[in-house]
Amino acid sequence: MDAIRIRCGPPLCGRVRISGAKNAALPILCATLLSDGPSRLRNVPALRDIETTAALLRFLGRTVTVETPEVNVAAGSDVRPEAPYELVKQMRASVLVLGPLVARFGRAKVSLPGGCAIGTRPIDQHLKGLEAMGCTIQLDRGYVLAEGPAGGGRLRGAEVCFDLPTVTGTENLMMAASLAKGRTTLVNCAREPEVEELARVLNKMGAEVNGAGTDVIHVVGAERGELAPFDHAIIPDRIEAGTYMVAAAATGGDVLLESARLEDLEALVSKLRQAGAEIAAEGENVRVRRTAPLRPVNATTAPHPGFPTDMQAQFMVLMCLAQGESVISETIFENRFMHVPELHRMGARIALRGHTAIVHGVPRLRGASVMATDLRASASLVIAGLVAEGETEVRRVYHLDRGYERIEAKLGALGANIERVKGADA
Ligand code: UD1
Repeated sequence: MDAIRIRCGPPLCGRVRISGAKNAALPILCATLLSDGPSRLRNVPALRDIETTAALLRFLGRTVTVETPEVNVAAGSDVRPEAPYELVKQMRASVLVLGPLVARFGRAKVSLPGGCAIGTRPIDQHLKGLEAMGCTIQLDRGYVLAEGPAGGGRLRGAEVCFDLPTVTGTENLMMAASLAKGRTTLVNCAREPEVEELARVLNKMGAEVNGAGTDVIHVVGAERGELAPFDHAIIPDRIEAGTYMVAAAATGGDVLLESARLEDLEALVSKLRQAGAEIAAEGENVRVRRTAPLRPVNATTAPHPGFPTDMQAQFMVLMCLAQGESVISETIFENRFMHVPELHRMGARIALRGHTAIVHGVPRLRGASVMATDLRASASLVIAGLVAEGETEVRRVYHLDRGYERIEAKLGALGANIERVKGADA
């Protein structure tokens, strides 16, 4: 397995292009199941999660060509509405095929994702919504078996109130509702920009989705048994952009993020400014720089538009370098502090109290061999490596490859002293 080796280098400086949003591309790829015509996605990042989704769609019977940044999907021969454990366990977002499959083909068999590094992550809200739409759901030997009304019939529009905002849950039900009979109202929806992006695509496909980006979404199901194919360019990845913002701020650098959207990152940007970074939109781009010392800032994760849980680990590294104490609370996922013991090994001073981390800034971190068991924690360790004295080796790089396109090349172009070491993590 590969590792990433980083030596403390100069402040990051230059331009970096932000890739298309992974978490928008995944549901949109799954939405291609709602149509048989050939669909084209553009600005798709070259990531392992995209390959996994392509493999899943192929397993389901689709023809998929991945030539990132473009992906084409068309109907293949027969449809097999089944997502096996081998694929789902690689990527929890595979559950996003459940809604489209059952809406389009009347049935679906999708493996339960099982436990994962950042918590139990149930899918009860997805299932509750499908049941409200007339689905019969059974759990059998690790699989969800879902069947449309009366043995595989068309779903019925319904009113569904989520117990808590769930991103993939909202997306799954939006896709299911877009082929259901009548009107569906989803209440207490996730408001993430990726949900809005999926709604844009469903509307291009001929569905009628209103309210995405607010907590109430209305969907009127299309009368035809399928939607139309589409051609769509994916929005920039706000979490990748946020990660480069933190990296620029941590190193005291000056970086222009090409194709980034400040409006998707308001909570993070406000915290970064409080911490001493200067952030400004420059046309389609965003400039981040820091010359002032880092100040401690508290942050609590929350559903969008709150502070994103997917930026918590990276922001914590920044706070490790601030002059003073900050308090970071994680309210979305349990077990999302796995970067903390690794940061301790690099000389950070962080005390954990349940879902809260109390971070005491230190003058400097020290390089070490570290590893993380989830995507964003791995990114935080790379940022730590950029500023740590000496050499840092981040192991289990396959987590990074799930969500960051060519991270070592992008950081290298900004002046970081970083390389991928093939097979170093045996
Ligand atoms: C998505 C993102 C992930 C991000 C997360 C929160 C994708 C592909 N992934 O994950 O990067 O970290 O949003 O912003 O878009 N929950 C339930 N029951 C359910 C569903 C969720 O209790 O049926 C809980 C979860 O355990 C968690 C919270 O709801 O505590 C939010 O999870 P959710 O928004 O569903 O996360 P994902 O969609 O899996």
